[in-house]
Amino acid sequence: VGSMTGRDIVAISDFNRAELDLILETALRCELGASKRHFSHLLQGSILAAVFLEPSTRTRLSFESAMQRLGGGVISVAEALSSSLVKGESLSDMIRVIEQYADVITLRSPEKGAALVAADVASIPIINGGDGTHEHPTQALLDLYTIKKERGRLDGLTVAMVGDLKNGRTVHSLIQALLPYKPTILPVAPEELALPEEWVRRASEANVHVEHPASFDDALAHADVIYMTRVQRERLSSGVDYATLQYSYRLDRAAIERTRCTASIMHPLPRLTELAEDVDVLPTAAYIRQAGNGIWVRQALLGLVLGGF
Ligand code: NCD
Repeated sequence: VGSMTGRDIVAISDFNRAELDLILETALRCELGASKRHFSHLLQGSILAAVFLEPSTRTRLSFESAMQRLGGGVISVAEALSSSLVKGESLSDMIRVIEQYADVITLRSPEKGAALVAADVASIPIINGGDGTHEHPTQALLDLYTIKKERGRLDGLTVAMVGDLKNGRTVHSLIQALLPYKPTILPVAPEELALPEEWVRRASEANVHVEHPASFDDALAHADVIYMTRVQRERLSSGVDYATLQYSYRLDRAAIERTRCTASIMHPLPRLTELAEDVDVLPTAAYIRQAGNGIWVRQALLGLVLGGF
């Protein structure tokens, strides 16, 4: 494994298995070390710029919290309207300026490819916090961390991906992140929101099986992990009807009991109608723990790219 100091994190495909494992091990060290005093100044003197040009709760706040808990400072743009993009400034110009003020930038944008554009112009590390329908690599890393913790391993798991597999960037990044661990992927989506060919191809090139289950119940009965996602209303193509699609697949306690589903239930959040609140009390409901794991994984990433670990 080469050094990660100074690296950009644009897409999950930037990492090989050894690097993914290193990130997960570093995240575990962060979790176990959280109460140790030296952790609270590992990144003292460094500044994170959290540039979020699209709504976010978990990603931005967990990056900011991760940085502050390691002793670093944070400056942020919380919405596009408060940045100079509304005056017509280009993303490249904005990034070139922000890099004068910070040591690392996390960027979320509605545009596919924005993180790559930023990484090309910036000399400090750019961490992709989600670029349109494309990728959300740090979410995928915390998803891997959560799967490993909940299931005790990553290799050879059966993972059902449910919901908006077309527009959901967390799905795209998680599939890519799982490939080295040879999962079986069970896609469950309405036709309009099916997994794009590009991701099916990447899986088959890695000799990973994408198997269409006979039904949602069939997926529930066979999976080790159920990864629920919301229909990405703001990204739907015109002519696609949100009102009907939102009820395509709904996971509730009755479905879990009916299928004797023992899978870990995950969701990147925010959840809407696809995941009933009566699931929350089940021990297999992992989504709140999953969001919490974002801290350890983002601490690991910040520490690694800043050379603090
Ligand atoms: C996701 C995202 O932004 O892609 N949210 C997150 O970061 N946890 C999922 C979503 O918005 O549906």
